[in-house]
Amino acid sequence: MSRIKRVAVLTSGGDAPGMNAAIRAVTRTAIYYGLEVVGIRHGYHGMINNHFVGLKAHSVSDVLSKGGTILKTARSKEFMEPEGRKKAYENLKAAEVDAVVVIGGDGTLTGARVFCDEYYDIPFVGLPGTIDNDINGTDYTIGYDTALNTVVEAVDKIRDTAGSHNRLFFIEVMGRDAGFIALESGIACGAEAILIPEVHDQVHTLKDYLEKGFKRKKSSNIIIVAEGDESGGAFAIADAVKEDFAEYDVRVSILGHIQRGGTPSAFDRVSASRMGFAAVEALLDDQKSILVGFKNGEIDQVPFSKVIKLKKKVDPAKLEMVEILSV
Ligand code: F6P
Repeated sequence: MSRIKRVAVLTSGGDAPGMNAAIRAVTRTAIYYGLEVVGIRHGYHGMINNHFVGLKAHSVSDVLSKGGTILKTARSKEFMEPEGRKKAYENLKAAEVDAVVVIGGDGTLTGARVFCDEYYDIPFVGLPGTIDNDINGTDYTIGYDTALNTVVEAVDKIRDTAGSHNRLFFIEVMGRDAGFIALESGIACGAEAILIPEVHDQVHTLKDYLEKGFKRKKSSNIIIVAEGDESGGAFAIADAVKEDFAEYDVRVSILGHIQRGGTPSAFDRVSASRMGFAAVEALLDDQKSILVGFKNGEIDQVPFSKVIKLKKKVDPAKLEMVEILSV
């Protein structure tokens, strides 16, 4: 018999579509197993400032199709300090919280790992929630699929106008210091080139490509630039290209926060539900300090120690493929 009677759930860091499906699954699975559920609003900030609310089965009705997070989110500087974590621990103890499910990205999971190294008696389980898909230890993060589809829809629209005007477009997408959104959306949209932080010196290759493209009279081009790319982003690379290729009619589009919103895709809803369900079962199985993610389509558990530090790799073969396909 597990000693857990009350479980808390929070979302932290950048919101991601599908977080609500995860909150719902955690809440309803916990209730199914006879546990009480506490929602912590505003992430770790709320843990430090006692923003606790009781969650019942009906509290998570009608949330599956909603973007954002019903629990709100925040990036807490205070939780990075020992005093902040001490306050959070004391609040959890006072609220008789026996276990916590945190949903968020790299910063959130790092916070959970540090907390669990200091305070052993409240087990934490993490779920990967970020549009960036940059969490080592899981093939997939909640929100990535929806964000990717949002980018694809936007780029398809830009392609229409780029083609009509014979323009060269640089489109900047999110991902912080990771290139997953850029790479996969670029493939999905048939981008002529994709610039990502994981690959260096791509500007030369891009200029070669544009040179050849111009000679072949390629009428329009879409270049996807990851926001964390070493070129400095879409405006910087567009300026550099304009200097060398006055013949191209260049435009820039920064997609920005539309990538974080919107109704979650079916894939995000299903995956987030499966992860939320598995997180509660893991806690009842006395697991702690683990990420519940996906490996080859199946639920997988990885210790926090392996999740945070190593950087997830992109597949270089995909970029080679882009070159071949974008003749
Ligand atoms: O981590 C998700 C993310 O959307 C990144 O892709 C982006 O760099 C960052 O968050 C933006 O954060 P904020 O909304 O705080 O500006």
